[in-house]
Amino acid sequence: MNIIYASSEGYPFVKTGGLGDVIYSLPKELSKDKDLNISIFLPYYNTIKYSDKYDIEYVTNFYVNLGWRNQYCGIFKTTLNNITYYFIDNNYYFDRAKPYGDYDDGEKFAFFSKAILESIFKLNLYPDIIHCHDWQTALVPIFLKAFYSHLDNFKNAKTVFTIHNIEYQGKVGNNFFHEVLGLGNEFFDTIHYDDCLNFMKSAIVLSDKVTTVSRTYAHEIKHAYFAHGLQYVINDYAYKISGIVNGIDTQLYNSETDKTIKYNFDLKSLDKKADNKTYLQKQLGLPVNKDIPMIGIISRLVSHKGLDLVEYIADELLQQSVQLVILGTGDYHFEEFFRNLQYRYPDKVSSNILFDAKLANQIYASSDFFLMPSKTEPCGLSQLIAMRYGTVPIVRETGGLFDTVTPFDKTTLNDGRGFTFKTYNAHDMLHSINLALDLYQDKPVLKHLIKNDLDYNSSWTESAKESLKLYKSI
Ligand code: GLC
Repeated sequence: MNIIYASSEGYPFVKTGGLGDVIYSLPKELSKDKDLNISIFLPYYNTIKYSDKYDIEYVTNFYVNLGWRNQYCGIFKTTLNNITYYFIDNNYYFDRAKPYGDYDDGEKFAFFSKAILESIFKLNLYPDIIHCHDWQTALVPIFLKAFYSHLDNFKNAKTVFTIHNIEYQGKVGNNFFHEVLGLGNEFFDTIHYDDCLNFMKSAIVLSDKVTTVSRTYAHEIKHAYFAHGLQYVINDYAYKISGIVNGIDTQLYNSETDKTIKYNFDLKSLDKKADNKTYLQKQLGLPVNKDIPMIGIISRLVSHKGLDLVEYIADELLQQSVQLVILGTGDYHFEEFFRNLQYRYPDKVSSNILFDAKLANQIYASSDFFLMPSKTEPCGLSQLIAMRYGTVPIVRETGGLFDTVTPFDKTTLNDGRGFTFKTYNAHDMLHSINLALDLYQDKPVLKHLIKNDLDYNSSWTESAKESLKLYKSI
Protein backbone atom coordinates (compact mmCIF):
# COMPACT_ATOMS: atom_id res chain seq x y z
CA MET A 1 0.00 0.00 0.00
CA ASN A 2 1.35 3.43 -0.96
CA ILE A 3 0.66 6.01 1.71
CA ILE A 4 1.38 9.70 1.40
CA TYR A 5 1.39 12.08 4.35
CA ALA A 6 0.76 15.74 3.64
CA SER A 7 1.71 18.01 6.51
CA SER A 8 3.13 21.45 7.27
CA GLU A 9 5.29 20.01 10.06
CA GLY A 10 7.24 16.86 10.77
CA TYR A 11 10.00 16.29 13.30
CA PRO A 12 13.04 16.29 13.02
CA PHE A 13 12.82 18.76 10.12
CA VAL A 14 10.22 21.17 11.45
CA LYS A 15 8.10 21.19 14.57
CA THR A 16 6.17 23.93 16.34
CA GLY A 17 3.80 21.69 18.29
CA GLY A 18 2.22 18.25 18.65
CA LEU A 19 1.53 17.95 14.91
CA GLY A 20 5.28 17.83 14.29
CA ASP A 21 5.66 14.96 16.76
CA VAL A 22 2.80 12.94 15.30
CA ILE A 23 4.12 13.28 11.75
CA TYR A 24 7.35 11.74 13.00
CA SER A 25 6.19 8.95 15.27
CA LEU A 26 3.06 7.60 13.52
CA PRO A 27 4.67 7.04 10.09
CA LYS A 28 7.75 5.65 11.83
CA GLU A 29 5.61 3.03 13.57
CA LEU A 30 3.71 2.20 10.35
CA SER A 31 6.95 1.89 8.38
CA LYS A 32 7.82 -1.24 10.38
CA ASP A 33 5.23 -2.96 8.20
CA LYS A 34 7.11 -3.95 5.07
CA ASP A 35 3.92 -3.91 2.98
CA LEU A 36 3.58 -0.18 3.46
CA ASN A 37 5.44 2.31 1.34
CA ILE A 38 5.31 5.69 3.06
CA SER A 39 6.22 9.14 1.76
CA ILE A 40 5.87 12.45 3.57
CA PHE A 41 5.54 15.85 1.90
CA LEU A 42 6.78 18.89 3.84
CA PRO A 43 7.49 22.49 2.84
CA TYR A 44 11.17 23.17 2.23
CA TYR A 45 11.35 25.89 4.85
CA ASN A 46 14.58 27.90 4.96
CA THR A 47 15.41 26.34 8.34
CA ILE A 48 15.63 22.97 6.58
CA LYS A 49 17.11 24.23 3.35
CA TYR A 50 20.01 26.14 4.90
CA SER A 51 20.78 23.59 7.61
CA ASP A 52 23.74 21.26 7.23
CA LYS A 53 22.20 18.70 9.58
CA TYR A 54 20.42 16.79 6.81
CA ASP A 55 21.46 14.95 3.73
CA ILE A 56 18.88 16.20 1.25
CA GLU A 57 19.19 15.85 -2.52
CA TYR A 58 17.65 17.74 -5.42
CA VAL A 59 15.18 15.77 -7.58
CA THR A 60 13.46 17.98 -10.15
CA ASN A 61 11.47 21.18 -10.64
CA PHE A 62 8.36 22.33 -12.49
CA TYR A 63 5.69 25.00 -12.26
CA VAL A 64 2.36 24.91 -10.43
CA ASN A 65 -0.74 26.90 -11.37
CA LEU A 66 -2.56 28.75 -8.64
CA GLY A 67 -5.36 30.94 -10.00
CA TRP A 68 -3.54 33.26 -12.43
CA ARG A 69 -0.17 32.46 -10.85
CA ASN A 70 2.43 30.11 -12.21
CA GLN A 71 4.77 29.29 -9.35
CA TYR A 72 8.11 27.55 -9.26
CA CYS A 73 8.16 24.22 -7.41
CA GLY A 74 11.40 22.40 -6.69
CA ILE A 75 11.46 18.89 -5.26
CA PHE A 76 14.11 17.72 -2.85
CA LYS A 77 14.20 14.44 -0.98
CA THR A 78 15.80 12.35 1.71
CA THR A 79 15.15 9.04 3.50
CA LEU A 80 14.67 8.44 7.20
CA ASN A 81 13.26 5.39 9.04
CA ASN A 82 12.45 3.79 5.66
CA ILE A 83 10.29 6.75 4.78
CA THR A 84 10.86 9.01 1.77
CA TYR A 85 10.60 12.69 2.65
CA TYR A 86 9.80 15.06 -0.22
CA PHE A 87 10.34 18.77 0.31
CA ILE A 88 8.45 21.35 -1.72
CA ASP A 89 10.80 24.19 -2.56
CA ASN A 90 9.70 27.74 -3.28
CA ASN A 91 11.61 30.66 -1.80
CA TYR A 92 8.76 33.13 -2.18
CA TYR A 93 6.55 31.09 0.18
CA PHE A 94 8.96 29.24 2.42
CA ASP A 95 11.95 31.51 2.90
CA ARG A 96 10.25 33.23 5.81
CA ALA A 97 11.06 33.88 9.47
CA LYS A 98 8.63 31.22 10.70
CA PRO A 99 6.27 28.57 9.29
CA TYR A 100 3.03 30.42 10.09
CA GLY A 101 1.76 33.83 10.97
CA ASP A 102 2.17 35.69 7.68
CA TYR A 103 -0.52 37.75 5.94
CA ASP A 104 -0.61 35.23 3.08
CA ASP A 105 -0.73 31.95 5.02
CA GLY A 106 -3.85 30.98 3.04
CA GLU A 107 -2.14 31.39 -0.31
CA LYS A 108 1.07 29.78 0.95
CA PHE A 109 -0.67 26.58 1.98
CA ALA A 110 -2.96 26.58 -1.05
CA PHE A 111 0.27 26.50 -3.06
CA PHE A 112 1.70 23.75 -0.85
CA SER A 113 -1.43 21.58 -1.19
CA LYS A 114 -1.60 21.95 -4.94
CA ALA A 115 2.16 21.40 -5.29
CA ILE A 116 1.84 18.07 -3.45
CA LEU A 117 -0.68 16.80 -6.00
CA GLU A 118 1.35 18.11 -8.92
CA SER A 119 4.43 16.38 -7.45
CA ILE A 120 2.62 13.06 -7.16
CA PHE A 121 1.85 13.36 -10.85
CA LYS A 122 5.31 14.56 -11.91
CA LEU A 123 7.14 11.99 -9.75
CA ASN A 124 4.83 9.32 -11.10
CA LEU A 125 3.69 8.10 -7.68
CA TYR A 126 0.54 6.02 -7.31
CA PRO A 127 -0.86 6.68 -3.84
CA ASP A 128 -3.55 4.49 -2.32
CA ILE A 129 -3.96 6.83 0.63
CA ILE A 130 -3.30 10.55 0.90
CA HIS A 131 -3.46 11.43 4.57
CA CYS A 132 -3.77 15.19 5.16
CA HIS A 133 -3.31 16.94 8.48
CA ASP A 134 -4.95 20.13 9.71
CA TRP A 135 -5.99 23.20 7.71
CA GLN A 136 -2.63 23.66 6.02
CA THR A 137 -3.21 20.62 3.81
CA ALA A 138 -7.01 20.67 3.91
CA LEU A 139 -7.21 21.87 0.30
CA VAL A 140 -5.72 18.64 -1.04
CA PRO A 141 -9.09 16.82 -1.36
CA ILE A 142 -10.79 19.68 -3.23
CA PHE A 143 -7.83 20.18 -5.60
CA LEU A 144 -7.71 16.42 -6.09
CA LYS A 145 -11.35 16.29 -7.09
CA ALA A 146 -11.19 19.38 -9.30
CA PHE A 147 -7.88 18.94 -11.11
CA TYR A 148 -6.26 15.55 -10.58
CA SER A 149 -8.69 12.70 -9.96
CA HIS A 150 -8.98 11.88 -13.68
CA LEU A 151 -5.25 11.13 -13.95
CA ASP A 152 -4.03 7.56 -13.85
CA ASN A 153 -1.73 8.31 -10.88
CA PHE A 154 -4.75 9.01 -8.71
CA LYS A 155 -7.03 6.19 -9.77
CA ASN A 156 -6.69 4.43 -6.38
CA ALA A 157 -6.21 7.51 -4.23
CA LYS A 158 -8.43 7.76 -1.16
CA THR A 159 -8.16 10.65 1.26
CA VAL A 160 -8.01 10.79 5.04
CA PHE A 161 -8.12 14.10 6.86
CA THR A 162 -7.04 14.43 10.49
CA ILE A 163 -8.18 17.30 12.69
CA HIS A 164 -5.45 17.97 15.24
CA ASN A 165 -7.19 21.10 16.45
CA ILE A 166 -10.51 22.39 15.12
CA GLU A 167 -9.73 25.90 16.32
CA TYR A 168 -7.54 26.58 13.29
CA GLN A 169 -9.66 26.03 10.18
CA GLY A 170 -8.01 28.04 7.42
CA LYS A 171 -10.47 30.81 6.67
CA VAL A 172 -10.11 33.32 3.84
CA GLY A 173 -12.38 35.81 2.07
CA ASN A 174 -14.70 34.69 -0.73
CA ASN A 175 -12.61 36.46 -3.38
CA PHE A 176 -9.86 33.87 -2.75
CA PHE A 177 -12.02 31.34 -4.62
CA HIS A 178 -11.24 32.59 -8.15
CA GLU A 179 -8.22 34.69 -7.25
CA VAL A 180 -6.10 31.89 -5.71
CA LEU A 181 -7.89 28.55 -5.87
CA GLY A 182 -9.00 28.90 -9.47
CA LEU A 183 -11.81 26.41 -8.89
CA GLY A 184 -14.97 26.06 -10.98
CA ASN A 185 -18.19 27.49 -9.50
CA GLU A 186 -19.53 24.00 -8.83
CA PHE A 187 -17.09 23.78 -5.90
CA PHE A 188 -18.15 27.00 -4.21
CA ASP A 189 -20.71 25.45 -1.84
CA THR A 190 -18.25 22.76 -0.80
CA ILE A 191 -15.82 25.25 0.66
CA HIS A 192 -18.09 28.18 1.51
CA TYR A 193 -19.13 28.46 5.18
CA ASP A 194 -20.25 31.33 7.40
CA ASP A 195 -19.71 33.78 4.59
CA CYS A 196 -16.09 32.97 3.98
CA LEU A 197 -14.10 30.08 2.56
CA ASN A 198 -13.19 27.43 5.09
CA PHE A 199 -10.44 24.96 4.07
CA MET A 200 -11.23 22.53 6.87
CA LYS A 201 -14.90 22.36 5.95
CA SER A 202 -14.06 21.31 2.39
CA ALA A 203 -11.75 18.57 3.68
CA ILE A 204 -14.44 17.21 6.00
CA VAL A 205 -16.98 17.17 3.18
CA LEU A 206 -14.71 15.56 0.57
CA SER A 207 -12.36 13.20 2.43
CA ASP A 208 -13.19 9.51 2.48
CA LYS A 209 -12.50 9.40 6.22
CA VAL A 210 -11.98 12.06 8.85
CA THR A 211 -10.20 11.41 12.12
CA THR A 212 -9.38 13.38 15.22
CA VAL A 213 -6.66 12.64 17.71
CA SER A 214 -8.73 11.12 20.52
CA ARG A 215 -12.06 9.36 20.84
CA THR A 216 -13.50 11.90 23.27
CA TYR A 217 -12.57 14.87 21.07
CA ALA A 218 -14.39 13.20 18.16
CA HIS A 219 -17.57 13.43 20.25
CA GLU A 220 -16.86 16.84 21.74
CA ILE A 221 -16.56 18.59 18.39
CA LYS A 222 -20.21 17.84 17.66
CA HIS A 223 -20.92 20.61 20.17
CA ALA A 224 -20.62 24.35 19.73
CA TYR A 225 -18.46 24.72 22.86
CA PHE A 226 -15.65 22.80 21.17
CA ALA A 227 -16.27 23.17 17.45
CA HIS A 228 -15.47 26.84 16.80
CA GLY A 229 -18.47 27.10 14.49
CA LEU A 230 -17.98 23.83 12.59
CA GLN A 231 -20.44 21.74 14.69
CA TYR A 232 -23.03 21.64 11.89
CA VAL A 233 -20.53 20.19 9.44
CA ILE A 234 -19.21 17.74 12.03
CA ASN A 235 -22.73 16.47 12.76
CA ASP A 236 -23.63 16.16 9.08
CA TYR A 237 -20.55 14.05 8.40
CA ALA A 238 -20.34 12.24 11.76
CA TYR A 239 -20.75 8.90 9.94
CA LYS A 240 -17.20 9.11 8.60
CA ILE A 241 -15.52 10.74 11.59
CA SER A 242 -13.68 8.73 14.23
CA GLY A 243 -11.13 9.30 16.98
CA ILE A 244 -7.78 7.52 17.18
CA VAL A 245 -5.71 8.55 20.15
CA ASN A 246 -2.15 9.71 19.49
CA GLY A 247 0.83 7.83 20.82
CA ILE A 248 4.35 9.08 21.41
CA ASP A 249 7.79 7.78 20.54
CA THR A 250 8.45 5.77 23.69
CA GLN A 251 12.07 5.19 22.65
CA LEU A 252 12.70 8.92 22.58
CA TYR A 253 10.88 9.57 25.86
CA ASN A 254 12.30 6.99 28.21
CA SER A 255 13.44 7.85 31.75
CA GLU A 256 15.88 4.93 31.69
CA THR A 257 17.76 5.92 28.54
CA ASP A 258 17.05 9.59 27.71
CA LYS A 259 20.47 11.22 27.32
CA THR A 260 19.10 14.75 27.60
CA ILE A 261 18.27 14.40 31.29
CA LYS A 262 20.86 14.54 34.06
CA TYR A 263 20.12 11.21 35.80
CA ASN A 264 18.37 8.22 34.28
CA PHE A 265 16.01 6.29 36.52
CA ASP A 266 13.24 3.72 36.78
CA LEU A 267 10.72 2.72 39.43
CA LYS A 268 13.44 1.09 41.52
CA SER A 269 15.62 4.19 41.52
CA LEU A 270 13.21 7.02 42.20
CA ASP A 271 15.90 8.66 44.34
CA LYS A 272 17.53 9.47 40.99
CA LYS A 273 14.35 11.24 39.95
CA ALA A 274 14.77 13.36 43.09
CA ASP A 275 18.40 14.03 42.06
CA ASN A 276 17.08 15.40 38.80
CA LYS A 277 14.86 17.70 40.82
CA THR A 278 17.68 19.09 42.97
CA TYR A 279 19.81 19.49 39.84
CA LEU A 280 17.03 21.48 38.17
CA GLN A 281 16.43 23.56 41.32
CA LYS A 282 20.10 24.55 41.27
CA GLN A 283 19.98 25.29 37.56
CA LEU A 284 16.89 27.50 37.92
CA GLY A 285 17.93 29.22 41.13
CA LEU A 286 15.17 27.73 43.27
CA PRO A 287 15.78 26.59 46.87
CA VAL A 288 17.38 23.15 46.68
CA ASN A 289 15.27 20.68 48.61
CA LYS A 290 14.14 17.31 47.28
CA ASP A 291 11.17 17.19 49.69
CA ILE A 292 9.35 20.19 48.23
CA PRO A 293 6.79 18.98 45.69
CA MET A 294 7.43 20.39 42.25
CA ILE A 295 4.66 21.07 39.73
CA GLY A 296 5.68 21.45 36.09
CA ILE A 297 3.79 23.27 33.35
CA ILE A 298 5.11 22.91 29.80
CA SER A 299 2.69 24.50 27.41
CA ARG A 300 2.01 27.03 24.76
CA LEU A 301 0.91 29.98 26.88
CA VAL A 302 -2.51 30.44 25.29
CA SER A 303 -5.94 30.59 26.82
CA HIS A 304 -7.32 27.21 25.72
CA LYS A 305 -4.56 25.58 27.76
CA GLY A 306 -6.51 26.62 30.86
CA LEU A 307 -3.94 29.09 32.16
CA ASP A 308 -6.58 31.54 33.33
CA LEU A 309 -7.46 28.93 35.97
CA VAL A 310 -3.85 28.93 37.11
CA GLU A 311 -3.84 32.72 37.17
CA TYR A 312 -6.97 32.76 39.33
CA ILE A 313 -5.67 30.52 42.11
CA ALA A 314 -1.91 31.10 41.88
CA ASP A 315 -1.67 33.17 45.06
CA GLU A 316 -3.72 30.67 47.01
CA LEU A 317 -1.64 27.75 45.74
CA LEU A 318 1.65 29.46 46.46
CA GLN A 319 0.89 29.87 50.16
CA GLN A 320 1.82 26.21 50.44
CA SER A 321 5.18 24.53 50.32
CA VAL A 322 5.42 23.92 46.58
CA GLN A 323 7.51 24.88 43.58
CA LEU A 324 6.02 25.78 40.21
CA VAL A 325 8.20 25.50 37.11
CA ILE A 326 6.82 26.91 33.86
CA LEU A 327 8.21 26.54 30.35
CA GLY A 328 6.67 27.95 27.19
CA THR A 329 5.91 30.98 25.07
CA GLY A 330 2.65 32.39 23.82
CA ASP A 331 0.24 35.25 24.51
CA TYR A 332 1.82 38.35 25.98
CA HIS A 333 -0.73 38.36 28.79
CA PHE A 334 0.32 34.95 30.11
CA GLU A 335 4.02 35.50 29.50
CA GLU A 336 3.80 38.65 31.65
CA PHE A 337 1.66 36.96 34.26
CA PHE A 338 4.20 34.17 34.79
CA ARG A 339 7.18 36.56 34.76
CA ASN A 340 5.45 38.61 37.39
CA LEU A 341 4.61 35.52 39.42
CA GLN A 342 8.28 34.59 39.56
CA TYR A 343 9.10 38.16 40.60
CA ARG A 344 6.61 37.94 43.46
CA TYR A 345 7.50 34.39 44.53
CA PRO A 346 11.18 33.98 43.62
CA ASP A 347 11.55 31.02 46.01
CA LYS A 348 8.61 29.14 44.60
CA VAL A 349 8.24 29.99 40.93
CA SER A 350 10.56 29.64 37.96
CA SER A 351 9.09 31.05 34.74
CA ASN A 352 11.01 30.16 31.63
CA ILE A 353 9.44 32.07 28.77
CA LEU A 354 11.20 30.28 25.96
CA PHE A 355 11.25 27.11 23.89
CA ASP A 356 13.97 24.67 24.94
CA ALA A 357 13.55 20.95 24.27
CA LYS A 358 16.35 19.93 26.63
CA LEU A 359 15.02 21.98 29.52
CA ALA A 360 11.57 20.53 28.78
CA ASN A 361 12.85 17.00 29.25
CA GLN A 362 14.64 17.97 32.45
CA ILE A 363 11.37 19.46 33.79
CA TYR A 364 9.42 16.31 32.81
CA ALA A 365 12.03 14.19 34.60
CA SER A 366 12.28 16.39 37.70
CA SER A 367 8.70 17.38 38.50
CA ASP A 368 6.49 15.39 40.81
CA PHE A 369 3.31 16.59 39.14
CA PHE A 370 2.45 17.88 35.70
CA LEU A 371 -0.37 20.39 35.47
CA MET A 372 -2.44 20.51 32.27
CA PRO A 373 -5.84 22.09 32.95
CA SER A 374 -6.77 22.63 29.26
CA LYS A 375 -10.16 24.05 28.38
CA THR A 376 -10.04 21.92 25.26
CA GLU A 377 -7.38 19.37 24.33
CA PRO A 378 -7.75 17.33 21.12
CA CYS A 379 -5.19 14.83 22.39
CA GLY A 380 -2.29 16.39 24.24
CA LEU A 381 1.12 14.76 24.18
CA SER A 382 2.71 16.40 27.24
CA GLN A 383 0.69 14.35 29.72
CA LEU A 384 1.87 11.19 27.93
CA ILE A 385 5.47 12.34 28.05
CA ALA A 386 5.16 13.29 31.75
CA MET A 387 3.91 9.79 32.59
CA ARG A 388 6.97 8.27 30.88
CA TYR A 389 9.06 10.07 33.53
CA GLY A 390 6.85 9.02 36.44
CA THR A 391 5.48 12.53 36.74
CA VAL A 392 1.85 12.43 37.82
CA PRO A 393 -0.53 14.39 35.61
CA ILE A 394 -3.17 16.74 37.02
CA VAL A 395 -5.59 17.37 34.16
CA ARG A 396 -9.05 18.53 33.24
CA GLU A 397 -11.30 15.79 31.90
CA THR A 398 -11.46 16.80 28.26
CA GLY A 399 -10.47 15.31 24.89
CA GLY A 400 -7.34 13.20 24.97
CA LEU A 401 -6.69 14.11 28.61
CA PHE A 402 -9.87 12.28 29.53
CA ASP A 403 -8.90 9.29 27.39
CA THR A 404 -5.37 8.92 28.71
CA VAL A 405 -5.39 10.07 32.34
CA THR A 406 -7.81 7.98 34.36
CA PRO A 407 -8.40 9.18 37.93
CA PHE A 408 -6.41 7.58 40.74
CA ASP A 409 -8.24 6.47 43.87
CA LYS A 410 -5.96 6.12 46.88
CA THR A 411 -8.49 4.15 48.91
CA THR A 412 -8.74 1.31 46.38
CA LEU A 413 -5.24 1.78 44.92
CA ASN A 414 -6.75 1.34 41.47
CA ASP A 415 -4.86 1.59 38.20
CA GLY A 416 -5.66 5.31 37.78
CA ARG A 417 -2.88 7.50 36.51
CA GLY A 418 -3.48 11.00 37.83
CA PHE A 419 -5.71 13.67 39.34
CA THR A 420 -8.58 14.98 37.28
CA PHE A 421 -11.36 17.53 37.53
CA LYS A 422 -14.37 18.04 35.33
CA THR A 423 -15.76 21.56 35.46
CA TYR A 424 -13.73 24.42 34.05
CA ASN A 425 -13.40 26.00 37.46
CA ALA A 426 -10.25 27.26 39.17
CA HIS A 427 -11.14 25.94 42.62
CA ASP A 428 -12.04 22.50 41.28
CA MET A 429 -8.56 22.47 39.79
CA LEU A 430 -7.02 23.68 43.04
CA HIS A 431 -8.88 20.92 44.87
CA SER A 432 -7.23 18.33 42.60
CA ILE A 433 -3.83 19.95 43.08
CA ASN A 434 -4.32 19.83 46.84
CA LEU A 435 -5.24 16.15 46.71
CA ALA A 436 -2.03 15.60 44.79
CA LEU A 437 0.03 17.59 47.31
CA ASP A 438 -1.53 15.60 50.18
CA LEU A 439 -0.69 12.35 48.47
CA TYR A 440 2.88 13.51 48.01
CA GLN A 441 3.37 12.97 51.75
CA ASP A 442 2.27 9.34 51.50
CA LYS A 443 5.28 7.86 49.74
CA PRO A 444 4.18 4.19 49.36
CA VAL A 445 0.87 5.23 47.77
CA LEU A 446 2.63 7.81 45.62
CA LYS A 447 4.96 5.07 44.42
CA HIS A 448 1.98 2.93 43.42
CA LEU A 449 0.64 5.83 41.37
CA ILE A 450 4.01 6.48 39.76
CA LYS A 451 4.15 2.81 38.82
CA ASN A 452 0.78 3.13 37.09
CA ASP A 453 2.14 6.04 35.07
CA LEU A 454 5.38 4.32 34.12
CA ASP A 455 3.48 1.17 33.14
CA TYR A 456 1.04 2.96 30.84
CA ASN A 457 1.49 1.99 27.21
CA SER A 458 1.51 5.25 25.25
CA SER A 459 3.37 3.85 22.26
CA TRP A 460 1.89 4.00 18.77
CA THR A 461 1.50 0.23 18.46
CA GLU A 462 -2.28 0.08 18.96
CA SER A 463 -3.17 3.42 17.36
CA ALA A 464 -1.05 2.74 14.28
CA LYS A 465 -2.94 -0.54 13.87
CA GLU A 466 -6.21 1.39 14.03
CA SER A 467 -4.98 3.84 11.40
CA LEU A 468 -3.98 1.00 9.14
CA LYS A 469 -7.37 -0.63 9.59
CA LEU A 470 -8.97 2.65 8.60
CA TYR A 471 -6.78 2.89 5.47
CA LYS A 472 -7.68 -0.67 4.52
CA SER A 473 -11.38 -0.02 5.04
CA ILE A 474 -11.36 2.51 2.21
C1 GLC B 1 -2.61 19.78 18.38
C2 GLC B 1 -3.56 19.58 19.56
C3 GLC B 1 -3.00 18.59 20.58
C4 GLC B 1 -2.58 17.31 19.87
C5 GLC B 1 -1.61 17.63 18.74
C6 GLC B 1 -1.17 16.41 17.97
O1 GLC B 1 -1.48 20.47 18.78
O2 GLC B 1 -3.83 20.83 20.19
O3 GLC B 1 -3.97 18.30 21.55
O4 GLC B 1 -1.97 16.44 20.79
O5 GLC B 1 -2.23 18.52 17.83
O6 GLC B 1 -2.25 15.71 17.40
